Formats: sequence, C-alpha cells, structure tokens
Amino acid sequence: MTKPSKRLLRALNGETLERPPIWLMRQAGRYLPEYRETRSKADGFLNLCYSPDLAVEVTHQPLRRFAFDAAILFADILLVPDALGQGVAFQEGEGPVLDAITSEEALKDLSLERVETHLAPVFETVAKLSATLPKDVTLIGFAGSSWTVATYMVGGRGSPDQRAARVWAFRDPAGFGKLIELVTEATVLYLRQQIDAGAEVIQLFDSWAAQLPDHEFDRWVIAPTAKIVAALNESHPDVPVIGFPRGAGPAAERYVAETGVSAVSMDTGMPMTWAREHLQARVPVQGNLDPLTLVAGGPALEEEAARILAGFSGGPHIFNLGHGIVPETPPENVARLVDIVTGWKGA
Ligand code: CP3
Repeated sequence: MTKPSKRLLRALNGETLERPPIWLMRQAGRYLPEYRETRSKADGFLNLCYSPDLAVEVTHQPLRRFAFDAAILFADILLVPDALGQGVAFQEGEGPVLDAITSEEALKDLSLERVETHLAPVFETVAKLSATLPKDVTLIGFAGSSWTVATYMVGGRGSPDQRAARVWAFRDPAGFGKLIELVTEATVLYLRQQIDAGAEVIQLFDSWAAQLPDHEFDRWVIAPTAKIVAALNESHPDVPVIGFPRGAGPAAERYVAETGVSAVSMDTGMPMTWAREHLQARVPVQGNLDPLTLVAGGPALEEEAARILAGFSGGPHIFNLGHGIVPETPPENVARLVDIVTGWKGA
C-alpha cells in the first residue's frame, strides 16, 4: 500500500507524529445547537439516522466549527437490531427501547435477509460524506460489537450492569451464542457495505465490555470481535479497525493480541503507564481524556489534555475522549481542546 497522507491514517499506520490526529466520540450531537435544530426537523432519532441528507448535515456540523482530523458517520449501533427486525424506538429523554429477546425461540423473528436493504440509507449517507468531506478529513464508519449490541437486544434497554444478557449467557450459552452469531454476521454485512460506500476506517464500539469474567470476556467479546475483524481483513485488507473495549482493564491486552484490531481506543480509567507498555508498544492507541474535563473547562482541561499529549507522545496516538461527549458540554471548550491539540509542539 502507498503511504497514507491523512493524519489519522498515518497514525493508524503506526507513525509517531509531531502532533496526534484528533476526533471525538459523539462529536456530532446534542451539545451543538445546530444538531438540536436539525434533529427537530427529523421525525425522531431513527428517522434522522435513516435520512441521508440530514445525517450528512449533522456529520458535517462539528467540522464546520472545529479542525477535527476525522468525521464519524452519523448513525447508531442499534440500527443493526432494527435491521434484523427487532423493534427499536428512541424515546426523548429515555434512551433506546427494544422488544426484549430473551430466548432462542424469539430469534426466529429476526432475519439477516433484510439487513442490507434496510440499511441502504446509511450507505447512501456514507457515499455522500465521502464525496463532500474536506480532503484531509478521514471518514470513520462504525458498528457496535456483538456483545454490546446483544446487551440492548436482550435487556430491551440500556442497563447499568447488563444483567439480562449476562444471565442468559450463563444459563444457556448455546442459545445466547446463536444471537451473538446472528449479530456478528449482520455486523460484517453492514461494515463491508460502509467500506464499499467510502468509509476509510472502522470503529467497533464495545461499550459494555466490563463486568465479564475472563472466560466470558473471551467468548462474548474477543471471539466475535476477532470474527468481524478477520472478515473485514479478508474483504478489505487496507481498512484499519479501531476496537473500543470500554472498561476491559488489563483484558485489553488480550483483546488486542487476539482480535487482530489495528488500534485500541482506551477508556478514561485506563492507566497511562500500563497502557504505554502493554498496548501502545503493540498497536496505535486512541484516547482517553475524561469527557467531563470538557464540561469543566479551565485549568483541568488544559492540564489533562497536556498530560495525555505528553504521555502518549512516544508512540502512535490518536487524541480522543475516554467515552462520548456529554450533552451539557460547552462547545467553546471543544474549540479550546482542538486548539491545544493542533497547536501541540511536543513534550
Ligand atoms: O458523533 C458520533 O459519535 C456519531 C454517531 C453515534 C451515535 N451513537 C449518535 C447518537 C455513535 C458512534 C453512537 C454509538 C452508540 N450508540 C454507542 C456506543 C458508544 C457509547 O456511547 O458507548 C451506544 C451504546 C449507542 C446506543 C445509544 N444511542 C444510546 C444508549 C442512546 C441514548 C443515550 C444517549 O447517549 O443519548 C443513543 C442515542 C444517540 N446516539 C444520540 C446520538 C447523537 C442522542 C439522540 C438524541 O438526539 O436524542
């Protein structure tokens, strides 16, 4: 492959840069008044995701304000269950609600057949973004990892401890494994089409990777992620995959070694010294500023950003948060952060 020139692609290619690329999880969203305005024009959140012109618009919005090195497709990890035929609804102020699936029997209502046609508007969004983004901005496609998506499918909503999925996985691993398999297959179809439409990098969100004992982590987080990565590597060997095993702690090292991800996104709790030695020595790392420093602003933001810039400057690094931007974030603090990172002159 010829050497990439976009900053994010260079970092993912293993280069240690004079300053890292920056993008932020949830860089499009409710903290921006223009997002709230566009969202009010769509008939609900799902409709926003399925309306290519509106989804393109909200993907562009943060780039008009801030000099990010990447854009992330505007969509949601729960479009996959929706495409499989499970009812998904986003209620204002309540988060997602799904018709919970708690037995193998209920899987008969889901089907891989409609996945690609149902998600066609998302591929159209990707294609339109690919044609309209500034030339130095990298387009990131994404999906949830099988485990995290399954926790919503089984619980019927978000939950602090993902207990419904964990109980099913313990009680009936074979049945739960069929659900994981189905989500894994749908995710491969979904991501391959995103790449064909123009996504240059893929991020896999495993937001609920914490709380699993070792062998369960191997079975429900590592194994399906490894399958997705292998399938994408086979069809699209030049497209890097960033894995985000949020809350995995020291299991992140096994995750990197065994899934084959090209880079790993670190949550805020990941200790820096450990991460340098056990993660960054192997693959580029991404993260991990606390999203709440962006709410606080002031000296905390300056100091934490500088600590992360300096701390990960010895190897390939992508500046990001440890989790998504929260809605109460003042946009001017995001502007300040982007100035700090793009103006960084080295440790
Ligand atoms: O800018 C971007 O990051 C791109 C778009 C994006 C969204 N969701 C838009 C969104 C991405 C990458 C996601 C990923 C996602 N969705 C995850 C993984 C990352 C994480 O945050 O852990 C998860 C778990 C979901 C599921 C989901 N979507 C929940 C639980 C909720 C409700 C709670 C919340 O944070 O709002 C959503 C809704 C959602 N997805 C919004 C946005 C902008 C807010 C919807 C609104 O406008 O009301």
